[in-house]
Amino acid sequence: MYSNYDKLIAETEKFVQGFFQDEGTGHDWWHTCRVRKLAVKIARKEKADLFIVEMAALLHDVGDYKLYNGNEEKGWKIVREFLNSLSISEEATNEIVQISSNISYMKSLSNKEDKKEKNESLEFMIVSDADRLDAMGAIGIARAFTYGGFYHRPIYDPCIKPNINISREEYKKSNAPTINHFYEKLLKLKDTIYTAYGKKLAAERHYFLEEYLKRFFAEWQIVK
Ligand code: ADP
Ligand code: NI
Repeated sequence: MYSNYDKLIAETEKFVQGFFQDEGTGHDWWHTCRVRKLAVKIARKEKADLFIVEMAALLHDVGDYKLYNGNEEKGWKIVREFLNSLSISEEATNEIVQISSNISYMKSLSNKEDKKEKNESLEFMIVSDADRLDAMGAIGIARAFTYGGFYHRPIYDPCIKPNINISREEYKKSNAPTINHFYEKLLKLKDTIYTAYGKKLAAERHYFLEEYLKRFFAEWQIVK
């Protein structure tokens, strides 16, 4: 499709790497690398548009509100400006921004003011699956505790119960222990996966999350 595919990808890679140099919340460059690799793998199986998938996966965290003091728009403007500087069509630019700016888990939580239409193209589903799968399993656990540590959150506090039906605003502001995040997000992820291969990986990673929690509570000695 694009004769200069490799060059566009390389330029995007360089742009994205610059953003994640000192990132300590588990949103780092290697997260982006894993998401990109898995997204491309699923895209091949699903015969999706590889360029759109790879670009959206590379850019999916660059506009994240956490990198802009909670502002949900600012980062995506920067991403759009970057894409405008590349020689790609407006249609492709719009698609890449649409996908990358809508895959965040936080966006899927209810918000009365949010009237944005959902973009559920095949390419969207693939990047979303790859991102969510990276929050599950052994890597997902490592990322959750890294995130919790970065924000000085306790590992676990039996007095603070998880907020299973957490709203978008509560999720953004939450200061809860990291174990609660398993119930507020990680264990729910398997039911949000779209593709067949994604579902297969999600089942394994979900099982591992459950096993981990069993061990955690056994060691804490409060098994029900
Ligand atoms: P979101 O869209 O929910 O912000 P991200 O994918 O941006 O999710 O989150 C980055 C990583 O940090 C993920 O692995 C996620 O599970 C983890 N994370 C997000 N919020 C928390 C939290 N409150 N406690 C522990 N880990 C978290
Ligand atoms: Ni991500």
